[in-house]
Amino acid sequence: MPRFLSATPDTRLIPLPWNVGLAEWPTHHLVALPRGISRHVVRFIGLDNEVYAAKEVHDALAIHEYRMLHDLMRLGTPSVEPVAVVTGRSTLDGTPLDSILLTRHLTFSLPYRQLFSPGVTSERVGQLIDALVILVARLHLIGFKWGDISLSNALFRRDAGGFAAHLVDAETGEFHTSLTDGQREHDLMIARTNLFGEFCDLEAGGLLDPGLDPLVLVNMIDRRYQELWSELTGVEEFPGAEIHRIEHRAQRLNDLGFDIAELDITTTADGSSVRIQPKVIDAGHHSRRLQRLTGMTTEENQARRLLHDLDEYRRASGQTRLDEATVAHRWLQEAFEPVMREIPEDLFAKLEPAQIFHEVLDYRWFSSEAQGREVPLDVAARGYVRDVLTQRPDEELSDVQLVEGDRVPANPYDPSHGYLEDDDTAPVDPWETGDDDDLPDPDFLDIAALRRKADGR
Ligand SMILES: Nc1ncnc2c1ncn2[C@@H]1O[C@H](COP(=O)(O)OP(=O)(O)OP(=O)(O)O)[C@@H](O)[C@H]1O
Ligand SMILES: [Mg+2]
Repeated sequence: MPRFLSATPDTRLIPLPWNVGLAEWPTHHLVALPRGISRHVVRFIGLDNEVYAAKEVHDALAIHEYRMLHDLMRLGTPSVEPVAVVTGRSTLDGTPLDSILLTRHLTFSLPYRQLFSPGVTSERVGQLIDALVILVARLHLIGFKWGDISLSNALFRRDAGGFAAHLVDAETGEFHTSLTDGQREHDLMIARTNLFGEFCDLEAGGLLDPGLDPLVLVNMIDRRYQELWSELTGVEEFPGAEIHRIEHRAQRLNDLGFDIAELDITTTADGSSVRIQPKVIDAGHHSRRLQRLTGMTTEENQARRLLHDLDEYRRASGQTRLDEATVAHRWLQEAFEPVMREIPEDLFAKLEPAQIFHEVLDYRWFSSEAQGREVPLDVAARGYVRDVLTQRPDEELSDVQLVEGDRVPANPYDPSHGYLEDDDTAPVDPWETGDDDDLPDPDFLDIAALRRKADGR
């Protein structure tokens, strides 16, 4: 009898056919959405307006992953939200089935293959790498060793001009009080191997720009991670006269989107030398500030862009003496919401509101440049809807890009089945096919006989 382990149960899940192996589920329960490849059977379940990701996996692993994801969520780390684990499954004739881990489908998320098709620029690859590096550093800061860093174990969301990465696969994850250098290095070693494979795969599929070398990309990840980590946690020593460097360090971390919660400061007895090291760091500097001021939940770069516009609004409208919260309220009423009102209801599935606002700001900048005058925000919003937004695919539950270039998936619910018009038939292993009667007596290895069989002679 199936059992549900859940913090927030959705009763509509209970009557689903849990006594059927996930791969055999009737398609009327499923939604075909793009996703990364996986070792386990993964399907998206559609329930009215809600979509869940279901992964069929060994009982202990499903519960472990559920708990990991729950802890990550509590700590505010970007990851998918666990919904339930269904255990105790068996078919009608009593054959036991693996458990199913259910997570909420991350809306507006894009699996990496979608972002790479067709022919990705080095700028975009750099943005994806940065997003992944930031996610890994955030996880390491809270003592989480991922154990399986890869592009297909992350989901990417648009974040102003770049991307934000969210963790999707926590099966191999482990929480520690803090990570040793060796544990972090091990995580990165796994990342290098996985990502090298993924970049080579993209290269083989013609999706990687010929100017991009998988090895160079993998080294770039390593370098950027090390740079970020030492900026976040490194020791800085300076003469006592340069005490302002403490504030500079805090400012640099804020610019990167982090806040120092605990800074360790030691000075020599005579105050001639100071040593600082951030000990506790919280991510989400801008998104927390925007949420405090407006209640909006956004990605970090989106928050940075919106806050910048809020500061501009404050300056341009001469409200610098008013308190920040009041100005933020007015900015919402006079800038953000009027733009949102220009967006027709049916276009809201295209992009998240904060991303739309960011793109309207970009559009206004370009049209102001072209026209040599300041284009008002509402005019820019109408132009953006007409010229840009209507042409975009829906990304809330993007299914248009299931077709990769001209290739159509063989099974729209499972990318591991490849593409319809791929003429690569499964590789033939002559040792596996045909009967073995004409094979030599296996006392010795008759290479010539095996070759003849392989050639069909
Ligand atoms: N909640 C979710 N929202 C959106 N996509 C999801 C979600 N859960 C899973 N996916 C998609 O399904 C894919 C496979 O999921 P996952 O990586 O958990 O499977 P796996 O079998 O454990 O993978 P691996 O082969 O790495 O062990 C992901 O790459 C992602 O694209
Ligand atoms: Mg995976």
